[in-house]
Amino acid sequence: MVIKLKEPTIPITEIEQSAFCQTDDELKAKSLDEEFQAGVRWQKLPTSYMRTSPEDLDTRIASARAALGSQLVILGHHYQRNEIIKFADYRGDSFKLSQYAASQKEAENIIFCGVHFMAETADILSAPHQKVILPNLMAGCSMADMAQIDDVLDCWDDLEGVFGERGVVPITYMNSTADIKALCGRNGGIVCTSTNAPATFEWALSHGERILFLPDQHLGRNTGLKMGIDLDEMLVWNPFKPLGGHTEAELSRAKLVLWQGHCSVHTRFTVPQIQEARERFPDVNVLVHPECTMAVVEAADLNGSTEYIIKAVSEGPPGSVWAIGTEISLVNRIAAENPDKKIFCLDSVVCPCSTMYRIHPAYLSWVLDGLNEGVVVNHITVDEEAAEQARVALDRMLSVV
Ligand code: 13P
Ligand code: SF4
Repeated sequence: MVIKLKEPTIPITEIEQSAFCQTDDELKAKSLDEEFQAGVRWQKLPTSYMRTSPEDLDTRIASARAALGSQLVILGHHYQRNEIIKFADYRGDSFKLSQYAASQKEAENIIFCGVHFMAETADILSAPHQKVILPNLMAGCSMADMAQIDDVLDCWDDLEGVFGERGVVPITYMNSTADIKALCGRNGGIVCTSTNAPATFEWALSHGERILFLPDQHLGRNTGLKMGIDLDEMLVWNPFKPLGGHTEAELSRAKLVLWQGHCSVHTRFTVPQIQEARERFPDVNVLVHPECTMAVVEAADLNGSTEYIIKAVSEGPPGSVWAIGTEISLVNRIAAENPDKKIFCLDSVVCPCSTMYRIHPAYLSWVLDGLNEGVVVNHITVDEEAAEQARVALDRMLSVV
């Protein structure tokens, strides 16, 4: 057993999360110069991009992209700003984009408009000749930052000490580093996304008696409940305490060990917000992402991944009312694309994911100009050994769904 006393730390991305929160519903891009005033870390880029207006950037991106033709594919996660998503050749949730990355073998370059773990995954799943580019290297994820590989390795050693080799099946949510996916790959585990979490739990429980789920305790708990695991068979692993804060006896009774991580965006949604929505609109459909807390998921009518949310609303009858608990850029887009329905975000504060939001059009313009000049800016690579092991866990995911 590893006995280490660690100082609890909060990832900087978590501290920065509220930097773009505002009460005004206007999420239109400003020049990067102005946006740099938000208190977050930005990647430096040539000053000529700083003052260019969003309108000029739009024109420049369109012509730079056109010049690159089929040698380039642009992938965009649903949480990206409108000024970015309009240039995506494919848009999707984490699962759909990982499928695209695995299947688009022609393009020489893939620009991934999303966050770091998604670009890493695209690098692992794409062909060796393809290069994956993340426009702004500061676009990380606070949830992924809550699981540092050294802490996860310590946890794994502890669990193997208690349960023996192959006593636990590790599942990592896509929102984690390549090193954690590699740990799952070499230890009989699997990756999941919010689309396929129940199927991966079923897979894991047919390969072992208990699961370690990383790094989102809420997706893990919500999925465990869906799969019939009782709350008293679940434990939260605190990486800053010996044995995660438990005794060996407590651990032996657990079927599901949940890493103590969360999404800073989805944990903003609360049960009182749902109650208020129901008071205002008695026929409202409350639809939330499973990264929300168990109380919020239970109080909602429906829950599912971003792709599920889009489908559920678009298939809803005209005139229906929807209160949605997910990232605001997506909620606003769903509202714009479904003018026959009343759609609003559960949270009245407009609070985009501060890392997704860091893919400003200036960065997209910069990396496109680079490609046109023969320079690959912000090339994301995963070292071959980790990539090979992570690919095992990703391939298991792609084959169980
Ligand atoms: P999905 O793309 O799986 O819905 O996950 C949402 C999310 O938070 C991505 O970071
Ligand atoms: Fe990470 Fe949450 Fe942002 Fe997704 S929405 S990138 S999980 S912080």
